[in-house]
Amino acid sequence: MSDKIAYSRHGDIAVLSVRNPPVNALSQAVRQGLWDGMDRAEAETGVRAVLIVGEGRAFFAGADITEFGKPPLDPFLPDLINRIEASPLLVVASMHGVSLGGGLEVALGCHYRIAVPSARVGLPEVHLGLLPGAGGTQRLPRLTGVEAALDVMTTGRQIGAAQAHKIGIIDVVQDGDPTQNGIAYAEKLVAEDALRRPVSEMPLPTPIDWDAAFDATLTRSKGQISPAWCVRAVQAAYDGDFAAGLKAERQIFFDLMQTDQRKGMIHAFFSERAVGNLPELKGVEPRSIAHVGVIGGGTMGAGIATAALLAGLRVHLLEMTPKAGEAAHGRIAGNLAGALKRGKINADQHSAMLDQALQVVTEYDALSDADLVIEAVFEEMAVKKAVFAELDRVCKPGAILASNTSYLDINEIAASTSRPGDVLGLHFFSPAHVMKLLEVVVADQTAPDVAATGFALGKALGKIPVRAGVCDGFIGNRILSTYRTCADHMILDGASPFEIDAALEAFGFAMGPFAVADLAGLDIGWAGRKRKRAEGLDPRARDVTYADKLCEAGHFGQKTGKGYYDYADGPKARVPNPDVLPLIEAERAAQGITPRTFTVDEITRRYMAAMVNEAAKVVGEGIARRPLDVDMTLLFGYGFPRYRGGPLKWADIDGLAGLLSDIEGYAETDPYFWAPAPLLCQLVADGQTFDDVNKKG
Ligand code: 3HC
Ligand code: NAI
Repeated sequence: MSDKIAYSRHGDIAVLSVRNPPVNALSQAVRQGLWDGMDRAEAETGVRAVLIVGEGRAFFAGADITEFGKPPLDPFLPDLINRIEASPLLVVASMHGVSLGGGLEVALGCHYRIAVPSARVGLPEVHLGLLPGAGGTQRLPRLTGVEAALDVMTTGRQIGAAQAHKIGIIDVVQDGDPTQNGIAYAEKLVAEDALRRPVSEMPLPTPIDWDAAFDATLTRSKGQISPAWCVRAVQAAYDGDFAAGLKAERQIFFDLMQTDQRKGMIHAFFSERAVGNLPELKGVEPRSIAHVGVIGGGTMGAGIATAALLAGLRVHLLEMTPKAGEAAHGRIAGNLAGALKRGKINADQHSAMLDQALQVVTEYDALSDADLVIEAVFEEMAVKKAVFAELDRVCKPGAILASNTSYLDINEIAASTSRPGDVLGLHFFSPAHVMKLLEVVVADQTAPDVAATGFALGKALGKIPVRAGVCDGFIGNRILSTYRTCADHMILDGASPFEIDAALEAFGFAMGPFAVADLAGLDIGWAGRKRKRAEGLDPRARDVTYADKLCEAGHFGQKTGKGYYDYADGPKARVPNPDVLPLIEAERAAQGITPRTFTVDEITRRYMAAMVNEAAKVVGEGIARRPLDVDMTLLFGYGFPRYRGGPLKWADIDGLAGLLSDIEGYAETDPYFWAPAPLLCQLVADGQTFDDVNKKG
């Protein structure tokens, strides 16, 4: 038998213990081992029941995702589960840790299910662009009813043992060792002469309005198709017998397996994990962080302090005046109240965080004991340098000094201290206690253990930390500036901000770029444009000024009630601001441009081409180490649709040669903006993809 399964006997119970660390993925060897274990149990005399249990962290995390996209290997999971269910012996699953996807489907193929209270179950296949493909869409509704089953599979969310018990997935919830619990439960069932209980033989629950459910699910999942196909797979259960339902489910599973969405989402799954695994940090021990200082308690400082408090860290927040300190305290209290309301923390934790772990101060000496200080003051180099001079004076040796700057040069900030090795950028995204992305900006002299600490802190705060090098805007904001510029060029040439937003939202972005700008505040972009003009624009660059006029009129977006859109009826009820198009038309006239129309495809193509081209420059220059680092930056910080995997995965799937050819075409009228990225040219010349670069590490 495969070494992935340990077979043992406990009286008349045969135990199949699964050993496939770290999370017992159902690889070919595991499937074969379970099959052989069932054969052996059925062949041995005296066995009356089989217990399936996982060793280590989980029951099963599901199918082995590394096998996807390759030819399927025998025995197939649906066949194995049917074989388990059809056994003449009683089969019991004892679940702990997670039972996900195919893992839960194995449990559904067993006749009885027991779980420890901390166990969690789910069918997260939709997060991989798939649906449950080993009977989950056919068996789960028979246990829970259609609505509850569709909720589990279309959201992909995990549910706890108590809830799973309540809706009929788990028969018994009991604390203790999973193997011992399982054996005792199996013995009890045998003693009671309990009958086998194949879920496939249970009656189907009341059907629902399938078309309405399909349409509603499609709308909810914003362009992602696999959740809606769960509805069709469940519906298929009603069109024939169990075997026919299973066959229909399998067909949809294979169809989804061929989609670009599946490729994009699996790229996202593995990249999300690879992003924190940098070769340069292997074996580098991070410094320990228990006490954090935050300078500035505005939008970002308050959010950063909240994130640190929620992660159990002690926080000293420094503001300029007691009044500003009070305002900062109020912002943090508001954030923590939200966390309390959403059940992320309980009342005791809430008061411990607000009343004990947090202290708001105005004197730097309070930071003398901090392990790490994050500066989030105004975006001005002189102000930042003054703050770092103070930190350099008071902080203990070995303390890490970080800046949350959006664009400014971390090397210059570091050079203004006597300890540049201890300085790095920690670039959070607004709202900082919610957004997952953290750019860890490694400057020229940042010590390796300081960079490693940035990553460790990010993980402790529940973030996705991405390594970035120093340049104007690091990875994300630099690429953002380029695709925003591209959008502004399209506006000068004839498109409207509203057409562009609609096109990008149809592509899958949570919000189009102009709606995002309204949310972030138009003053931020305005300050950036003023700074760049002051530094001197390249004479070949097209300048766009209509947005400045919007700001000059006092329209900064949602916070002033008007920007590109009018928010008179609230942030969700946006309508185009009628002042915007006349400003654009006036600028076109001033620049002598005759406007033309842009199709939705043309808008998306140009926008994506600009994004990919700049991203390729960012990778080529080493600002991002790997293409996947860019993909995760855009996914977790900029609302890029996860089902497309990220801009560089999208480019690989779309085809790099075609994209480069389009960029060269655009360059005929604007060679400065559309200069092709050398890395993109190289990949096309070599017939390679961004994924090939990822594989090189
Ligand atoms: N297949 C292969 N590898 C897997 C895996 C899987 N199903 N699940 C996790 N892993 C790997 C991860 O890639 C990671 O590898 P690494 O250490 O080399 O980076 C390692 O296991 C540990 O995973 P995490 O770092 O994610 O550990 P966590 O403790 O944070 O999370 C988990 C554990 C909740 C199991 C999480 O990994 C997870 O959600 N996994 C995916 C679960 C899933 O989607 N299952 C459905 C699969 S599709 C299916 O079953 C189809 C069926 O219906 C036919
Ligand atoms: P903000 O204006 O909301 O807050 C800045 C705070 O810093 C104010 O409360 C101010 O009183 C305080 N402050 C200023 N000088 C100080 C000093 N010398 N000592 C102590 N406190 C001081 O600004 P915001 O938006 O929080 O931005 C802060 C930094 O974060 C900037 O560098 C910005 O570029 C960056 N950032 C902003 C993002 C955003 O979406 N707002 C996103 C990511 C980074």
